[in-house]
Amino acid sequence: MGKAFLPSTLLSFFFFLWFLLLVFLTEIECTVKYDAKSIVINGQRRILISGSIHYPRSTPEMWEGLIQKAKDGGVDVIQTYVFWNGHEPSPGNYNFQGRYDLVRFLKTVHKAGLYAHLRIGPYICAEWNYGGFPVWLKYVPGISFRTDNQPFKSAMQGFTQKIVQMMKNESLYEPQGGPIILSQIENEYGPESKAFGSAGHNYMDWAAKMAVGMQTGVPWVMCKEEDAPDPVINTCNGVYCDAFTPNQPYKPKMWTEAWSGWFTEFGTTIKNRPVEDLAFSVARFIQKGGSFVNYYMYHGGTNFGRTAGGPFITTSYDYNAPIDEYGLVREPKYGHLKEFHKAIKLCEDILVSADPNVTSLGRYAEAHVFKSKNGDCAAFLSNFNSKSFVRVLFNNMHYNLPPWSASILPDCRNVVFNTAKVGVQTSQMQMEELSNLKSLYWERYDEEIGSLSEGNSITAVGLLEQINVTRDISDYLWYITSVDLSPSENFLHGGKSPILTVQSAGHALHVFINGQLSGSSYGNRKIKRISYSANANLRAGSNRIAFLSVAVGLPNSGTHYESWNTGVLGPVMLHGLNEGTRDLSWQKWSYQVGLKGESMNLNSLESASHAEWMKGSLIAQSEQPLSWYKAYFDAPTGDEPLALDMGSMGKGQVWVNGKSIGRYWTISAPNGDCNECTYAETYRTWKCQSGCGQPTQRWYHVPRSWLQPTRNLLVVFEEVGGDAMKISLVKRSTTIICGHMSEFHPLVENWDIDSENEVENLHRPEMHLHCDVGQTISAIKFASFGKPLGTCGNFVQGSCHSTNSQTILEKSCIGKQECVVSVSVDTFGDPCPNLLKRAAVEAVCSTFAQLTP
Ligand SMILES: *[C@@H]1O[C@H](CO)[C@@H](O)[C@H](O)[C@H]1NC(C)=O
Ligand SMILES: *[C@@H]1O[C@H](CO)[C@@H](O)[C@H](O)[C@H]1NC(C)=O
Ligand SMILES: *[C@@H]1O[C@H](CO)[C@@H](O)[C@H](O)[C@H]1NC(C)=O
Repeated sequence: MGKAFLPSTLLSFFFFLWFLLLVFLTEIECTVKYDAKSIVINGQRRILISGSIHYPRSTPEMWEGLIQKAKDGGVDVIQTYVFWNGHEPSPGNYNFQGRYDLVRFLKTVHKAGLYAHLRIGPYICAEWNYGGFPVWLKYVPGISFRTDNQPFKSAMQGFTQKIVQMMKNESLYEPQGGPIILSQIENEYGPESKAFGSAGHNYMDWAAKMAVGMQTGVPWVMCKEEDAPDPVINTCNGVYCDAFTPNQPYKPKMWTEAWSGWFTEFGTTIKNRPVEDLAFSVARFIQKGGSFVNYYMYHGGTNFGRTAGGPFITTSYDYNAPIDEYGLVREPKYGHLKEFHKAIKLCEDILVSADPNVTSLGRYAEAHVFKSKNGDCAAFLSNFNSKSFVRVLFNNMHYNLPPWSASILPDCRNVVFNTAKVGVQTSQMQMEELSNLKSLYWERYDEEIGSLSEGNSITAVGLLEQINVTRDISDYLWYITSVDLSPSENFLHGGKSPILTVQSAGHALHVFINGQLSGSSYGNRKIKRISYSANANLRAGSNRIAFLSVAVGLPNSGTHYESWNTGVLGPVMLHGLNEGTRDLSWQKWSYQVGLKGESMNLNSLESASHAEWMKGSLIAQSEQPLSWYKAYFDAPTGDEPLALDMGSMGKGQVWVNGKSIGRYWTISAPNGDCNECTYAETYRTWKCQSGCGQPTQRWYHVPRSWLQPTRNLLVVFEEVGGDAMKISLVKRSTTIICGHMSEFHPLVENWDIDSENEVENLHRPEMHLHCDVGQTISAIKFASFGKPLGTCGNFVQGSCHSTNSQTILEKSCIGKQECVVSVSVDTFGDPCPNLLKRAAVEAVCSTFAQLTP
């Protein structure tokens, strides 16, 4: 403010006050707008780091801790979808309780001082059952999903209006003083829009207008929709988004889904994404002017109940996210991103005030330089070479850039962070078996095979589509028919056995002939169809053929997926009879929705005690298909997250105290390549896999808050056969932590110590090791300052080793929750002068401090 405003008379003094008041009022007016650079909150441009946490994928008791961890990790915004089918299970009946308490979730975000991005959809994809749509929506007369169709548009508008009104009622939008700064309508509509032609385009325009008309006071985005009409912002989803530009020069460059990992399908490996590459992808986006990045997922969580979509999406939705399924931080992913976010925040004011000036620093290297009006300067130096370091000259200084990385210089001089130099510890989680489930008293209840309950079963000529019959109130539908055979059939007199063939549209099929399991067949996410073919053990006279057709989550994406079929649609044929082949497809079939145990509510606390369960030794007869098991257990002490180890079982569902833990299935991933993993390359999901040859999902999260101190009811429904007595409860904790760090700067082996112009990390390297709260470091399994080799869990001493390494680490760390050791010759002495040395440490975290031998 200049001299012109200095008061010389009383009058001008009042004008001055008036002016101040005006400035003040404009400043405090709560608005969320955007311009070409960024989202503008209350007049301020922001670089926003966002993280997806989906409220129904954890419990309300977990929300506060998860959100606080996100905040501590440098996240500004929590992004969530809104889950229509969870909120409106039947038309007009709403559920905003428990895990679906959206308002409570958003208030928790607000209380933590974070913003929210509400992706209403209502189509959400999300590997969620039916992409978030209630199944009843399909049966609204004349409906066609996600296109210019009146019944669909009315339903979509109705739900969107309901959510927006609820948010307004609760003052949850930022201009009302709430946390919501952004909304989303539709979801990844671009590819559909092309398939639907002009009807798609009209619908997309309508959706944008409908949303904007709701006057939320905050901007709307459409992700993956390049035609998003003004004022809706089109945003990017993907593994990398640096090449993305919004469809108008006055819209900010936003990344709504930066994939931190990937979802998991039953029968496949786990997909992991190295944090070095994830951080590099985000640095590349920001250095090209991006101002909003959301990690999808920041905490993935669990698909409890039958909420997993797909089909074949696992119950775990861990997503290799910075916070794991159980709510524990995943290191080094969490910590490295946290350091990264700090570095970005140091540059925030400069990044939002100018466009970058990009200059080449060689074949693979670039400098992106941002300068504010007052001359402040921030730079990103990046090396796109995936094979080697480059040494670049920038502002008359030399910098070494590791392969496939970016360095951040908040003052255009000092490097505070490099995306490939991981200074934080690595943690290894372990599932530790608890002894208290070992001697449980199990009881069994045998499901009736193909029983038809009166008044509840239907009969039809021909084969019916499964969801049309079940309306998805159960995964299970029985298809039952009978086959009469003459005693003169050849196969009854030493001839070849007849063969039954069944074609099903999915997802899993169990075939019973005369009450015996004859075989099972499964689809997978790519080939949903099932072809079953096996010898049929038939007899003279009447034979009862019963199929249990099982849904494994309804599709969540695909053009007009509402028209896709599930269940045994045939043909069903019996080959090798005297008459040749008999087509059973057009016989009379009886249908029963769900299991007898489901109709009896065997999983509930009230009913479990009434049914006639078999006790004791009778149940030893294991591997029995279609069996219910129950046992009571006491909650283990402590507060580590818990899981059920279902490794001894086949496929089914599991409940604790009447609450569904989810579908379980111990099908294994193929024996593929689980060793290939370099961060320094374009990420593909076949890289960095884990779990080759192992069950895709062996452990199932049991939220602590679902337990009472004693007598918790565990109920399991097993489809094909397993050994329930081997089910165990495990606790998850960090057991091994590793630090691996160079005495000057990690990874740079070709460091030129003589060069005077080098400027690198300001602080001397310090190794920080920390266990979870409630744990202490109980042992140092490995320590070497010198030239150690290997990775966490497999470290070995190299040619150069300081013999006091172990003692120094033990002195500094044993018995402590966290410790810090300076990685330098001052601490360890110099075992090999003139060589760049590093320290590698593997430590053990324990709940109770143990004395080391
Ligand atoms: C919002 O509040 C009004 C007035 O109290 C109420 O009638 C309406 O049902 C509320 N709407 C929602 C969606 O909660
Ligand atoms: C961008 O940087 C180059 C190299 O430092 C410089 O020559 C050029 O003038 C800069 N351009 C702008 C628009 O600042
Ligand atoms: C669904 O079932 C009804 C009868 O319940 C039938 O009229 C209709 O044709 C079926 N639709 C499909 C797609 O199978």
